[in-house]
Amino acid sequence: MANEILAELFRVSLIMSAAILLLTVLSWLLRSKTSATARMICWVALAMSMLVPVRPTLYTLTAPKLMSFITDTLATRLDLRTEPRYLTEQTGEWVQTSEAIAGTQASDASANSQDSIVTSEIQPGVFTYIWLFGFLAVITVCIIKHFLFLRTIRRWGQPASGEISNLMNSVKREIGLKRHIRLLVSPVITTPVLIGLFRPIIVLPDEKIESSKLRFVLMHECFHYKRGDIWVKTLSLFTLAAHWFNPVVYLMKRLLIQESETACDEAVLRHAGADSRFQYGETVLYIAKRGKQAEAALFSSFNGHGNNLKKRLVDIIERAAPKRWVSVVCTTALAAVLLLSIGMTSIQAQSGGDANDIPEEDSPVIHEVRDEPDSIPDELHGLKDIYKDYFLIGTCGDIKMLSNPYWEVLSKEFNSFTIENAMKPQYIQSKEGQFNFDAAGEITAVLADHDIAVIGHTLAWHEQTPGWMWDDRDKAKERLEAHIDAVIRNCGPQLTSIDVVNEAFADYTGDSDWRKNLRQDTGWYTVLGADFIEIAFRKADEVRRDIGRPDLKLYYNDYGLHSPAKADAVYRMVTELRAKGVPIDGIGMQSHYSETLSVDDVENALAHFNTIPGVEVSISEMDISIIGSGGNLSLTADQSAIQSELYARLFTVFKKYAKGQANTDESKRLIARVTVWGVTDGSAWLGKSNPVLFNRQFEPKEAYSAVANPEKFLEFMTATKDL
Ligand code: G3I
Repeated sequence: MANEILAELFRVSLIMSAAILLLTVLSWLLRSKTSATARMICWVALAMSMLVPVRPTLYTLTAPKLMSFITDTLATRLDLRTEPRYLTEQTGEWVQTSEAIAGTQASDASANSQDSIVTSEIQPGVFTYIWLFGFLAVITVCIIKHFLFLRTIRRWGQPASGEISNLMNSVKREIGLKRHIRLLVSPVITTPVLIGLFRPIIVLPDEKIESSKLRFVLMHECFHYKRGDIWVKTLSLFTLAAHWFNPVVYLMKRLLIQESETACDEAVLRHAGADSRFQYGETVLYIAKRGKQAEAALFSSFNGHGNNLKKRLVDIIERAAPKRWVSVVCTTALAAVLLLSIGMTSIQAQSGGDANDIPEEDSPVIHEVRDEPDSIPDELHGLKDIYKDYFLIGTCGDIKMLSNPYWEVLSKEFNSFTIENAMKPQYIQSKEGQFNFDAAGEITAVLADHDIAVIGHTLAWHEQTPGWMWDDRDKAKERLEAHIDAVIRNCGPQLTSIDVVNEAFADYTGDSDWRKNLRQDTGWYTVLGADFIEIAFRKADEVRRDIGRPDLKLYYNDYGLHSPAKADAVYRMVTELRAKGVPIDGIGMQSHYSETLSVDDVENALAHFNTIPGVEVSISEMDISIIGSGGNLSLTADQSAIQSELYARLFTVFKKYAKGQANTDESKRLIARVTVWGVTDGSAWLGKSNPVLFNRQFEPKEAYSAVANPEKFLEFMTATKDL
């Protein structure tokens, strides 16, 4: 975790360095058009945003190759990557993913599996500690300087005379400042300063300054206080401490302090005429002649412009008031850029598809692609080969998945594909009688050509179905049947199975009468009651026979079927309807799981369904969400281990109930297919929680290894748990 935050910090540092340089140039170019306050706001926004160590996708959108090269190199050199281990099929050894991809390293690693695990584990501490050391060093030095300075002032400082206090009160009144500020005079001070966050003190040199000049000095310092400049300085200190390794940030801090001085000059001179400007300039010269004040931490000094005295004087004497609107436009533009750079995170994270999105009825396709590399790494084996004698192994998606780089993963790893959206009623028949099979037809045609089993999804569902279908009780049955007829007639010839009814049951299913456990207030139930299930299956059966596909499997599909109550309700529905001759061939256990899953519950449900003669089960929409990873673009090593272990345990259970010949226990031949709901974390419906087997770079995750060889994975986990 610490490593990942540090890697993000490096990225932010790199990206924001470019922003700092850009702002430096812009400040210089627009100096006469913008106010120092506007420029300072920009710097403050930059400094604040650098304290947020999240900017994960900006670099891919701006300069993908260069930035990913730099950040990857950094991460690799600093050993910041938390890369999942990978199990090679040939050797059965564990290596880092990149080694597996490189191939050569994988074989090296195979020389001694235990050693390779230990030595290839990242040594995370070193760079985190170095960074922390730098951070603390900067803060500590500043704090020490601050307190030494305060001690000196307290030791040598005397309260200012009544005359100075009176002048101070009049200045405060003039600028509307109510807060009490102590006034001291000290022989160790060369230039006036304001110090202290909570109990501010203005310290003046122990030399009589004529009152016209003193008035300007006090006003300048009071404005510093009023504007909160010491807080700004504190912020810049923390930014510098966090990015102590980045020289550009030192430049930023310097410019920020200069702008804060200029902004105070501007505030003092806001309504000043030429004479006052000259007098103020004289005051600046007079103080400057006294020499620069030794730097302390949280203070601001009247002479804080560094070596820019000439520029400061020119500004004071010649500067016309900048146009306010130019300042506002520039500041807003910069703030927008900053917000956008932070906002990229959530855009990226959310694009996995939100269940609450309101779908458009006329557009069948589908997911956006993120972070696409040119091609996927050349992996070691395909899951479809590993499981060919157990069950079909599938994934889902829409037309996008037929193009690279998705297609490379899909065609290599999977031998079954569920059409994720394009066959849903809202896309197939958004208006009565107007069917659109373009997308579904194209997908089925391509997949059939490549011997990939196509799964139809879904005919009767209360979601993603246009409302007109059930707005008239008298026409409802006819409409349901017409829809089923059209879909199976058009797409059926190429399908292996189809989800005829989807999610008919309510979430709580405690009643012994399964009908009472159905969703009562939505969709087909509202017009046809529980009979809609029977109607749908009977019609589907009739049409499949009509098109010469009696082997097309008709499924009831639902989620949460590891819950004993819901599983039992479905069990009772299927057994009762089958006894009446309703042709339900399969139960789809969607299996949208998370880290809290009880694998025993899943096994119990499978055992229960296994007692229905002649019915097969498919794990139809599997994913394992790591809820805690919400919004992150990858899993931490710990999260990955939790997810992978669950995948491994589930697949050992699935193998036990596999329908294929590889399952030697014939009494448990039940599972015909296991489908993972999404090709990559980037394309998956629940992508936010990184739930599937490939990451956003199209690389196999640790979970992939767990699925590829669950027994070995669990063995390894057990063996290394106590290390
Ligand atoms: O139709 C628009 C399209 O025009 C637009 O270009 C696109 C931009 O994102 O959005 C499209 O609609 C989205 C649709 O997926 C197609 O991508 C919807 O907003 C989005 O809500 C919809 O999400 C689907 C979700 O069902 C809807 O409930 C997911 O992709 C799909 O994976 C998910 O799948 C269901 C199963 O069918 C049943 N089991 C649970 C699972 C979630 O309900």
